[in-house]
Amino acid sequence: SMSVVGIDLGFQSCYVAVARAGGIETVANEYSDRSTPSCVAFGPKNRSIGAAAKSQVISNAKNTVQGFKRFHGRAFSDPFIQDEKNNLAYELVQLPTGLAGIKVMYMEEERNFTIEQVTGMLLTKLKETAENALKKPVVDCVVSVPCFYTDAERRSVMDATQIAGLNCLRLINETTSVALAYGIYKQDLPALEEKPRNVVFVDMGQSAYQVAVCSFNKGKLKVLATAFDTTLGGRKFDEMLVNYFCEEFGKKYKLDIKSKIRALLRLFQECEKLKKLMSANASDLPMNIECFMNDIDVSGTMNRGKFLEMCDSLLARVEPPLRSVLEQAKLKKEDIYAVEIVGGATRIPAVKERISKFFGKEVSTTLNADEAVARGCALQCAILSPAFKVREFSITDLVPYPISLRWNSPAEEGLSNCEVFPKNHAAPFSKVLSFFRKEPFTLEAYYTSPKELPYPDPTIAHFLVQKVTPQTDGSSSKVKVKVRVNIHGIFSVSSASLVEVHKSDENEEPMETDQKEEEKMQIDQEEQQKNEEQQQARTDKPESEEMETSQAGSKDKKMDQPPQAKKAKVKTSTVDLPIENQLLWQIGKDILNLFIENEGKMIMQDKLEKERNDAKNAVEEYVYDMRDKLCGLYEKFVNEDDRNSFTLKLEDTENWLYEDGEDQPKQVYIDKLTELKTLGQPIQARFQESEERPKAFEDLGKQIQQYMKIIHAFKTKDDQYDHLDAADMIKVEKSVSEAMEWMNNKLNLQNKRSLALDPLIKTKDIHAKTKELTDTCNPIVTKPKPKVEVPKEEQNPAEQNGPVEGQGDANVGAQPAEESTNTTAPTATEKKLPEMDID
Ligand SMILES: *[C@@H]1O[C@H](CO)[C@@H](O)[C@H](O)[C@H]1NC(C)=O
Ligand SMILES: *[C@@H]1O[C@H](CO)[C@@H](O)[C@H](O)[C@H]1NC(C)=O
Ligand SMILES: *[C@@H]1O[C@H](CO)[C@@H](O)[C@H](O)[C@H]1NC(C)=O
Ligand SMILES: *[C@@H]1O[C@H](CO)[C@@H](O)[C@H](O)[C@H]1NC(C)=O
Ligand SMILES: *[C@@H]1O[C@H](CO)[C@@H](O)[C@H](O)[C@H]1NC(C)=O
Repeated sequence: SMSVVGIDLGFQSCYVAVARAGGIETVANEYSDRSTPSCVAFGPKNRSIGAAAKSQVISNAKNTVQGFKRFHGRAFSDPFIQDEKNNLAYELVQLPTGLAGIKVMYMEEERNFTIEQVTGMLLTKLKETAENALKKPVVDCVVSVPCFYTDAERRSVMDATQIAGLNCLRLINETTSVALAYGIYKQDLPALEEKPRNVVFVDMGQSAYQVAVCSFNKGKLKVLATAFDTTLGGRKFDEMLVNYFCEEFGKKYKLDIKSKIRALLRLFQECEKLKKLMSANASDLPMNIECFMNDIDVSGTMNRGKFLEMCDSLLARVEPPLRSVLEQAKLKKEDIYAVEIVGGATRIPAVKERISKFFGKEVSTTLNADEAVARGCALQCAILSPAFKVREFSITDLVPYPISLRWNSPAEEGLSNCEVFPKNHAAPFSKVLSFFRKEPFTLEAYYTSPKELPYPDPTIAHFLVQKVTPQTDGSSSKVKVKVRVNIHGIFSVSSASLVEVHKSDENEEPMETDQKEEEKMQIDQEEQQKNEEQQQARTDKPESEEMETSQAGSKDKKMDQPPQAKKAKVKTSTVDLPIENQLLWQIGKDILNLFIENEGKMIMQDKLEKERNDAKNAVEEYVYDMRDKLCGLYEKFVNEDDRNSFTLKLEDTENWLYEDGEDQPKQVYIDKLTELKTLGQPIQARFQESEERPKAFEDLGKQIQQYMKIIHAFKTKDDQYDHLDAADMIKVEKSVSEAMEWMNNKLNLQNKRSLALDPLIKTKDIHAKTKELTDTCNPIVTKPKPKVEVPKEEQNPAEQNGPVEGQGDANVGAQPAEESTNTTAPTATEKKLPEMDID
């Protein structure tokens, strides 16, 4: 069934939100933590992902990978990679494709993983978290990416989602996601015809700083402009502190901290904590690390004021993106209704102050700083999912970088180019271009302004439009090419078709075939892709969204038929043309399939290792538990000889676990546990019996007493029982006295017996005896009294509830306790998907 899941794939940590009947909820991982570190550790037998990996950052430094989010879709030679690689504890390598990869020891082998694979691993974990929360398989999801990601980075993240077995319905920009989480709940947005409400969203996370200004009307969100500083984030502030203490401790203790990666990583962790403390506390704070390096304890202090001075250059970078979005959107500060901040680094008071000072108003923190992105993703997923009913909300995002096409133009004898999507053009969006050609041709897509791009290569892709032939008369054919920025923000030449002209009579119709037009290009029409709901309402261009999904075998003849081409004596038809893509850094389909398969194998390996480790832990736990109990709870239930030999056996097993038994197959541990249990089980059973026996005897005793009371009442002619049959009551009396004798006899024998021996009487026999007694007596004593007119004073309900009415008081006529407590909890496993109203 459909799952509605949103994933915030963060630089430092990730969040997962799901939609349930109750609304959107951020879910916790197996550590009851809603935040999962973006961290993967590799070991000789398995991987650890998330919190378990984070705890190995220092102990398994070379094989514990973090901070890889920004390596997506980048060549090893990329200056960003070259810059970063020196600050990492693990190794980045050049893969055969030229891309940056990660080298680790895994399963006792050197392995090079692509960034897609590593993010795929992290997503595997997040998928599992969602599955545990939803208690069903998760496939569909929405994943967030920074709004400044280029096509190569976006495609790389898309591949990672596939490796993890996810179907990403949309890659959504982090800021857009936040805006959605904000807007969809707002009841008081201006009506469609009114002036929109402009809100600025500021997101400073651990690795980057993003600003978006959005306009809201009822049910509508439009991104007006975005700006960013792709390297300004919490970690830059951490680095300031790290550099300060490296120098400080270096001088004070004569330590070269940067030469020792473990020390440096510890310092990073401590500085992160200190930064958080400083956000809440302005006084002098200590920085103490024991046994920091070369067995030296280090200590220093820092305070907010000093930190602020150190970070002046970073704080100066807060303002420009704020200024830029206003300029781009042509808005004044007074036009801004609110400034919403999210992201961990906006907790730094000085950052908040700079933002609020720029806008001349208090910033709002309506949204959860850590979880807003994930919640927005889940909302977007709910909107895209047919399983949920969500208030209608349309989202128009925009193209952050202008996109151009370049092609060889025979007519102009050289390269021609055209900007197809200018900066801040709405997205998703498709356009149809016409070319006049006689043979196949290539379109090169690229980002128009490399200077604006936080990425070294402006190339997006080459698209070869194949099977282009001239018209039957030898003139150029009109080729219609559809270019598109899709829902993930990825550009493509999504389809191409050739317009065949069939002349129906002698009159030569010139159409667009005159030589001057030939081999040129024109933009025919534009069409904006709308949200699903609106899509259905639109009738003018119903083909627009279908093309995206069914482009392979599309026989949609009416598609892109230009109205002006319908001239009287000319008939035209279109033929779909194949397009060959060469996307920058795109993983091939076969390689991607291999990665998917390998991820499956690694998941299986982790599972097997976990089972093996659980089996080992079970032995260890049993050893400790038994040893404790043998000289505690169980002491009286085993004779001294047996206790001594069992204790010895437990000690041997403990030693074995640290020696030969340290690393054994699962079955060896299972067998070991079985062997120990053979010795422990009888002791445990004797203890258990002795715990339960008194209660069982007590129940039997109570039952006997109950019947004795009834016998007495019958004999003294109590009118409650005077309808009962005398012969029957003799049967009751006999059963009761026989049971009493049985009970006294067994009690006596058992009380004389040592607890270290198996009991003479088992609890289950006592229960059986009780049942036997009630089976005989109950039908007799609960026989209903013949109906008589009820006098008024007997209406007291307490008296009506007597055993005569057969409704049972606690003991008489009741089933044994363990059966009567059976609650009929609903066991439905397949529930209908809930409908949700976001209100
Ligand atoms: C692998 O599994 C073991 C348990 O067998 C666990 O303790 C360890 O942390 C796991 N991860 C790595 C990277 O070794
Ligand atoms: C990993 O990449 C490095 C650098 O390109 C190369 O030297 C090494 O042989 C590769 N290892 C494997 C296992 O492919
Ligand atoms: C701030 O930190 C100092 C030093 O640790 C401590 O004495 C003080 O109580 C803290 N103040 C607040 C408000 O937490
Ligand atoms: C955000 O994502 C959309 C796709 O949903 C993409 O077209 C656009 O380029 C992105 N917008 C910004 C401002 O980065
Ligand atoms: C509880 O009742 C249900 C339905 O009456 C039955 O299927 C189930 O076996 C019972 N469970 C126990 C523990 O008695």
